[in-house]
Formats: sequence, C-alpha cells, structure tokens
Amino acid sequence: MRDPNSLFLFFAGEIFNQFTTERMGAEANGSSSSLNFLIYGRTGWIGGILGKLCAAQGIPYTYGSGRLEDRRSLVADLDSVKPSHVFNAAGVTGRPNVDWCESHKVETIRTNVVGTLTLADVCKERGLVLINYATGCIFEYDSGHPLGSGLGFKEEDTLTSPVHSTPRQRLWSESSFTLHRFIPVEELLKNYENVCTLRVRMPISSDLSNPRNFITKITRYEKVVDIPNSMTILDELLPISLEMAKRNLTGIWNFTNPGEFVDPSFTWKNFTLEEQAKVIVAPRSNNELDATKLKTEFPEMLSIKESLVKFVFEPNKKTEIKG
Ligand SMILES: NC(=O)c1ccc[n+]([C@@H]2O[C@H](COP(=O)([O-])OP(=O)(O)OC[C@H]3O[C@@H](n4cnc5c(N)ncnc54)[C@H](OP(=O)(O)O)[C@@H]3O)[C@@H](O)[C@H]2O)c1
Repeated sequence: MRDPNSLFLFFAGEIFNQFTTERMGAEANGSSSSLNFLIYGRTGWIGGILGKLCAAQGIPYTYGSGRLEDRRSLVADLDSVKPSHVFNAAGVTGRPNVDWCESHKVETIRTNVVGTLTLADVCKERGLVLINYATGCIFEYDSGHPLGSGLGFKEEDTLTSPVHSTPRQRLWSESSFTLHRFIPVEELLKNYENVCTLRVRMPISSDLSNPRNFITKITRYEKVVDIPNSMTILDELLPISLEMAKRNLTGIWNFTNPGEFVDPSFTWKNFTLEEQAKVIVAPRSNNELDATKLKTEFPEMLSIKESLVKFVFEPNKKTEIKG
C-alpha cells in the first residue's frame, strides 16, 4: 500500500495577466428555480459527479439521452427538457487509455469532433450556454513556457502559436491524432460565443478506487515520468463549473488548480520520455496551465496542495490504494 499523501509534483504558476471575462446574457441565472440543467455523459466519470452535485444542490437536472453526433436526437432532448444550460461531459476517452483513440479514429472524430460541434451548434440556435469539459493536454513546455519557470500557458495560447515550435511539438502536431483532434475543436468552438470551454487536465477525485483517478493511476505504475503538470481536482472544480453556468461564463478557461505540490517522502522509479514513448501510442502532454483567469473569477479556489488535503487526503485518511 502506498500512502495517498505521498507523491508527486503538481504545478501551476500564478502570473497576473489582463483579460476580459466573457459572459453570455446580461445577468447571471442565480436562483435554483430558474435553473434546469441538461447533462451529457450520464455513465461517465465527470457526468456522474455532475448529476450528484446537482442533486445535492437541489438543481433540477436531466441526463441527455441523445448521441452527440445525431443532431435530431439532441434537438429532441432540448425540446423535451427545455434546459437553462447544457453540460457536455460526453466524449470518447479510450479504454484502457487514450491510446485506443489512435486505432479508432473515426469513432473518436464522430463523437469528439462532429458530436461536440453539433451540440454547440444546436445550443447556439437556442441561445443556450454550453459548458464543455474539454482538455488542456494540448501544450508542451517550450522556450516561451520552460519547465519550472512558472510561466504557464494562458487561455489565449494555442498550439499553432509561433512560440510552440519545439521538435517534440512539431512531432506531435504532425503525428499525434489524439492530440491533434482537440486543437481544431477548441479553435472552432471559439466561434461559438455560447460555449464555455474548460481545459481539464489529469483529473483527481476523492474516489481513490477509480482507476482513472490520476493518483490511483500513477501509484500503480512501475515507473513514472517526473515532470510537473497542472491538474484538476474534480471535487473542488466541478462545483465551480456549475457556478460558471449560473454566471453564464463562456470562452476558454484553464480548469486546473494553481500552485505546486511536491511530496519529498514519495519514492518512485524514473522513466524517461524516450522510455515512455516505447510503451505508449499517443504522445502524452506535459505542461503548466496558468490558472489566473479562473482564480480571479473564483478567488476562493484553493491551491493544488490545499485542495488535495481538503478534498482527497482528509476524506481518504483510512483508504488504502490497492495496487
Ligand atoms: N485532459 C484530460 O486529462 C481529461 C481527462 C478526463 C476527461 N477530460 C474531458 O472530460 C470529458 C469527460 O470525461 P470522463 O472522464 O467523464 O469520460 P468517460 O468516463 O469516458 O465518459 C464519457 C461519457 O461520454 C458518453 N459518450 C461517449 N460517446 C458518446 C456519444 N457519441 N454521444 C453521447 N454520449 C457519448 C459515454 O456514454 P456511453 O457509455 O453511453 O457511450 C460516457 O457517459 C472528456 O471527453 C474530455 O473532454 C479530459
């Protein structure tokens, strides 16, 4: 057994920058009585948590029964539910991991590209805010954002920026289907002013029995790559995403906790990127996202260390991670 308090390197610097916050509609939809959430991803990890959060907060919600790529089924959902906001936690994520997407490109495009854009489009037709759980795994440390510098990628950064020109990134953008698929989707969704894109990364939750929980996953690996990365504490940030809907926030948001955490008591066997590359198909992303925009909108948001202690370590004091 490994102590869940021990481990790794979390990282996400705080650098103050200027930005404007996009909001749809004049006023935020404050009271629960005016809210009626439609959620896609009923059987999924994030979608499942969203339903529980709505139930706990007394927010009326319904899971969408349509398939994302089937426009008529989405329209039917909107007609019957008449939602105030739509949440997209549906997507092909790959089992046992994201490498599956590399060998199932059409299935992946159908849901993650065609489906996501179709949902954004039907929501736009009705003036509905779509909260879209997307990915922040689209960047790699580079000369403008060197590892350990505290200079994280901002919301306005895209992989096509001239600064993203390391050989590894060029390799990725040329060869990685998995990574590549996210870039045009985020870029295309920018044109939809009703969409709130949340760049999720390496999600962690209090449920340490879930093999997709980053803590559970990494403690089961024989060797790990010890590169700092920004991560998302779902127990803290998913409630924030519900609040983002209430405030009608749109645009792109780095959806990770700020700060860093290194536990010196954890020991692990190192794995170089080259060694890792031999056992994976889709290249994995290592980056730091700048969480300033989210922190400014939600000053109560905890640092990664505080969030881990409050939402993961404390509730799991007696939980063993079975290897
Ligand atoms: N960057 C990261 O590290 C990271 C990590 C996790 C999540 N995310 C983002 O968060 C999203 C949700 O993640 P998750 O971990 O909760 O995923 P998950 O557990 O794999 O769940 C995916 C959900 O999507 C549904 N789905 C798949 N294809 C669909 C389609 N064509 N139409 C309608 N529903 C469909 C699945 O339902 P069925 O079983 O019925 O198909 C399932 O409920 C991901 O898509 C991704 O964008 C990012």
